[in-house]
Amino acid sequence: MAPAQNSGDLKALKVPGDPRHRLAVALDYPDVTQALALVDRLGQTCHWYKVGMELYYAAGNSIVQQLRDRGFDVFLDLKLHDIPNTVAGAVRSATQAGASLLTIHAGGGAAMMTAAAVAASSSGAPRLLAVTVLTSMDAHELAGIGIAASPAVQVLRLAKLAQISGINGVVCSPEEVAMLRKEIGSDTMLVVPGIRPTGSTAEDQKRTATPTQAIIDGASLLVVGRPITRATDPASAAQAILYEIEQAQSTPAGKAKK
Ligand code: C5P
Repeated sequence: MAPAQNSGDLKALKVPGDPRHRLAVALDYPDVTQALALVDRLGQTCHWYKVGMELYYAAGNSIVQQLRDRGFDVFLDLKLHDIPNTVAGAVRSATQAGASLLTIHAGGGAAMMTAAAVAASSSGAPRLLAVTVLTSMDAHELAGIGIAASPAVQVLRLAKLAQISGINGVVCSPEEVAMLRKEIGSDTMLVVPGIRPTGSTAEDQKRTATPTQAIIDGASLLVVGRPITRATDPASAAQAILYEIEQAQSTPAGKAKK
């Protein structure tokens, strides 16, 4: 097994009760101006921002730094997937960015994830999350890339592989959260996109659920993009989600997880 990776700056997740620490808003924008305009509109509603490929390729480490300067925690969603040596190097380079969370693809295999975990064991490195099966994929899409297993079976396989490779955080859809909590326990951080409040459209997402359901099932951190960023009033949309999180986490199963 790889050495335990750096736990990253996860103080935020340890504040009990504050629903803002269980919501990451996906800043899927083509430039810094549009991204920071949304951040300004949300004010103190949120604590975590997710920077994905679209924004990072346009703005680089500068957007991560600007978000940190404003006091936010940053989840860098680069979904690294390459040979072990290259991914380890990318993890070391991404460490300079100052993000608290960084994604790699579990589909890169055990050797790749182990190399990434070793690279992330240095001081100041982000905590790594292994992306299992994209929330935009269903059984039909999986079959198209030669995987006959159902999404749930494949997610469990990849989550277990991530665990034995030293990666103790997983990205999965809301449909697998309860199953993963049962199968791999409460110590693994489960980060969950594909969140759709009642009445919002799924768009390209296939495996979705409401914020309430995801929290009750045991999600650690919800990732929400378009239901907030494309809302007429993004701050109200975010507040409605926070309200759902707050209500759901008052249930025994919804309490704060790793
Ligand atoms: O707009 P929406 O709420 O669908 O955004 C979901 C975000 O989560 C996007 O930024 C997407 O890249 C990310 N994501 C995902 N599915 C995964 C991993 C990340 O949708 N498995």
